[in-house]
Amino acid sequence: MAIERTFSMIKPDATKRNLTGKIVDRLESAGLRVVASKRVYMSKAQAEAFYAVHRERPFYGELTAFMSSGPTVVQVLEGEDAIAKNREVMGATNPAEAAPGTIRADFAQSIGENAVHGSDAPETAKEEIAFWFSGVEIVG
Ligand code: CDP
Ligand code: MG
Repeated sequence: MAIERTFSMIKPDATKRNLTGKIVDRLESAGLRVVASKRVYMSKAQAEAFYAVHRERPFYGELTAFMSSGPTVVQVLEGEDAIAKNREVMGATNPAEAAPGTIRADFAQSIGENAVHGSDAPETAKEEIAFWFSGVEIVG
């Protein structure tokens, strides 16, 4: 295993319910270090660009409307096997299927409003980090 960086978001449903600190605690307790973080209120166009990979999916309109409906905390996480570890701590996309003790099992409200985002592979992690952060904003 190697030290990796991954991209994470605390989605508008979670910031609205004041769960930012609780979610960051789950990530840090799992050994992930927050090396960049900022709160953004993304536009619909930014949400569409960020989620462009899903543009043909039926939920694309709803997803991008939701992601531009309130503040999001965008973060870079660093640690051993960070990409897989973050996905593990997050839990499955659908909170009804998420393992007990995961962020989505405990905090998500639905498959769409599911509290957090995490990159799924090294290439997407790199692209998603670069979408939101410049190099000088990441302090390891
Ligand atoms: O976020 P994750 O990588 O687990 O799931 P995804 O398949 O990459 O989907 C991205 C996001 O689209 C999810 O986190 C949900 O917010 C949303 N989604 C949805 O609203 N309905 C679905 N059937 C699947 C995903
Ligand atoms: Mg995904």
